[in-house]
Amino acid sequence: MKDKILVIGSLNYDIILKQKRLPQAGETYAVDAAMFCGGGKGANQAVQSAKLGADVYMVGAVGTDAMGTYLRETLLKYGVKDKYLKITEGESGVGIVNCLEDGTVFANIVKGANYKMNQADIDKLDEVLKNTKVIILQLEIPVAVVEYVIEKASKMEIKIILNAAPAIPVSEDIIKKCDYFVVNEIESSYYCNRNIDNVETAKEAIMEFCEKYKVNSVFTLGKDGAVVCDGREVQYFPSYKVNAVETTGAGDSFVGALGYCMIYDMDLFQAAKFATCCSALTVCGIGAQPAMPTLEEVKNFETMHD
Ligand SMILES: Nc1ncnc2c1ncn2[C@@H]1O[C@H](COP(=O)(O)OP(=O)(O)O)[C@@H](O)[C@H]1O
Ligand SMILES: [Mg+2]
Repeated sequence: MKDKILVIGSLNYDIILKQKRLPQAGETYAVDAAMFCGGGKGANQAVQSAKLGADVYMVGAVGTDAMGTYLRETLLKYGVKDKYLKITEGESGVGIVNCLEDGTVFANIVKGANYKMNQADIDKLDEVLKNTKVIILQLEIPVAVVEYVIEKASKMEIKIILNAAPAIPVSEDIIKKCDYFVVNEIESSYYCNRNIDNVETAKEAIMEFCEKYKVNSVFTLGKDGAVVCDGREVQYFPSYKVNAVETTGAGDSFVGALGYCMIYDMDLFQAAKFATCCSALTVCGIGAQPAMPTLEEVKNFETMHD
């Protein structure tokens, strides 16, 4: 059945350090607490779609280290299929995040296995592509691979969601071939070449962007919500007032939820409302993947907030 979601992207082993300050050069600093969890935009988005009940395959790469094993097992735990997960010699992708008490975040990623993805890995997907309805991509693997996927899938009956994060150059032609383009404030500012930091500027910019690229677009604005444009109209979706404890993965939850909705051909604006609920729930818990809601949790939340 043509009902599968392929998420083609990164898997990172995240090390999140909670600390009062960064060490100085030459200093060894003792941090207060650490958390270790599965991450990477690709894996996070796959987990969100799967938790909602979609049939999801993760296409990506992990290393031959213990972190690779952990990343694969975590995906399986959440119901994501690993048939197209590659294991490559060397280290897995790693994210090392320093979270300071005032909320400032410093992050490094080790490229690792994620950057060993290549076009041959995509050529192995021909069989599953026949049954794929939605492909979700981000930019934490080589951009040439992302572009190759988009070229190929745009000739097939597949909906392509590009979460252009982190912001790096992508050709105009490639953006035009996507069905949905999703970015946060920092990324939308980059792609629109102007400062987008409130609802008004986002509304203005998304209209121009949509006209130029002929792509359905979503600009998320953190706790300020999201603006959505289908090329004809712009709608604003304020975020839900919740007790946000940790906001990593908010955008990934949003994108994974959008992918889920597109399996059911849901209207873009309805989908954005559903995705807004999902990410509201995600920011209420610690860690991206563990906090992402199931369909039942979203439905309960919707009934409470309607
Ligand atoms: N503090 C928050 N409270 C409620 N919802 C939030 C909060 N932060 C983010 N969200 C929701 O998550 C969506 C995506 O968050 P955003 O921070 O823009 O993405 P990213 O994680 O990619 O930076 C927002 O559009 C909003 O609906
Ligand atoms: Mg954000």
